[in-house]
Amino acid sequence: MMENKTVYLNGQYLPLNEAKVSVLDRGFLFGDGVYEVIPSYSGHLFHFQDHLQRLENSLAGIRLENPHSREQWLDILTPLLDARFDQYIYLQITRGVAAKRDHGFPGNTPATVFAMCSAIVPFAGLATGVKAISLDDSRWQFCNVKAITLLGNILHRQEAIDQGCAEALLVKDGYVVEGAASNVFAVIDGVLLTPPKSNDILPGITRDVILDIARNNNILCHEESIPFTVLQTADEIWVTSSTREIIPVVELDSKPVADGKPGPVWHAMNQLFQAYKHTLL
Ligand SMILES: Cc1ncc(COP(=O)(O)O)c(C=O)c1O
Repeated sequence: MMENKTVYLNGQYLPLNEAKVSVLDRGFLFGDGVYEVIPSYSGHLFHFQDHLQRLENSLAGIRLENPHSREQWLDILTPLLDARFDQYIYLQITRGVAAKRDHGFPGNTPATVFAMCSAIVPFAGLATGVKAISLDDSRWQFCNVKAITLLGNILHRQEAIDQGCAEALLVKDGYVVEGAASNVFAVIDGVLLTPPKSNDILPGITRDVILDIARNNNILCHEESIPFTVLQTADEIWVTSSTREIIPVVELDSKPVADGKPGPVWHAMNQLFQAYKHTLL
């Protein structure tokens, strides 16, 4: 049964089962929109300004005007939060409902704005680590835009699930870029590496936080392209995202990563990350 929580749609708060969007919405017809996922710990939105900056970048990337100021976004999202729980906001903006289906942008159509809040359920693989497969990245050229057009990511993730794995690590021109719904880190020769920002990856907020924590705690780290052949010899591999946080990958393509257990750098980083979350409250 669908949970009937309160959600936000185009200026109104209403029960989820009453929130309806036209079939002519360009999000439905074309996947023409962007989204954000923002964690909230004890009612505090985590790195809210960074998420809004990324939202602004995504909107600019698809040439859609931001319908709200940052202050308005905070006012819209705050009533959805419940300080008793760890939650995440999902917010989506599409290019709205046009009179007819046409690829070109409609003129003067208000954006559709939707937001809802859900519980963060701690990810089961956090302590034990997860299995991953590698796949050729067959997505598009705008992976830096957090677009709702996620078919490529979905097909890659499902391929991983079909093979009993939690994530697919995507390889482009011989280099690992990111996961189907996560960024990737590797510990190689004692250095923490993650691919640099480019159109090939979503600039993850968790990724930035980890890099800051590493720099502030003398954990040697570089933003550097990682050849897939080097990743295969890594001492540690992690995948990171807002809702799952930092997940160790202990098996890649059916082979153990190092000794097949979460590594010491992951243990240290995970502790620092959990402590950091609490310093912000
Ligand atoms: C393709 C992709 N890369 C990276 C990430 C991680 O981004 P963040 O840490 O901001 O959640 C996500 C999050 O869902 C994602 O979908």
